[in-house]
Amino acid sequence: MPKIAIVYLSTQGSTKMMAEAIAEGVREKHVDVDINNFYEWDPSDVAKYDGICIGSSTFYYTMLEPIAKFIDKLINAGIEGKIGAAFGSYGWSGEAPVLIAQKMRDAGVDVIDPVLRIQYIPNEKDLAECIRLGKDLAIKVKKKTK
Ligand SMILES: Cc1cc2nc3c(=O)[nH]c(=O)nc-3n(C[C@H](O)[C@H](O)[C@H](O)COP(=O)(O)O)c2cc1C
Repeated sequence: MPKIAIVYLSTQGSTKMMAEAIAEGVREKHVDVDINNFYEWDPSDVAKYDGICIGSSTFYYTMLEPIAKFIDKLINAGIEGKIGAAFGSYGWSGEAPVLIAQKMRDAGVDVIDPVLRIQYIPNEKDLAECIRLGKDLAIKVKKKTK
């Protein structure tokens, strides 16, 4: 059975809302998903999943240091050939999800294009997009692990 890990950093809960909607989409396609704040995950455990979905909001035109370090540890654990996705809430520039996708691609992950960015608090339409991403990720992981 394929499995997907959703990892997020969220300060006010907007990226967390996105993460939960993505998880809902994955479950709708009957794929197992585990979702947690990044500090509750061990990077070497995340590396065991077939699909890895990472989200962060943007601060000072980048991602915060703790999530950047987490991703570096995850890459060191070995994630080449996995399916990935990146997402995040932002205010005005939204670099974090783009940088996450870049890090994952450089590590040999097949990251779904485009990354999903939502301005501030997601509305119903935004959450529907998140559910869509979860479904797409689940379909891609199922195909790959068949
Ligand atoms: C101190 C601070 C710095 C921020 N810097 C940026 C930034 O450089 N670019 C941007 O797009 N948003 C920036 N934001 C906005 C946040 O990314 C935005 O509020 C986002 O919705 C927070 O999502 P979260 O609740 O998941 O953390 C900043 C917010 C704060 C409080």
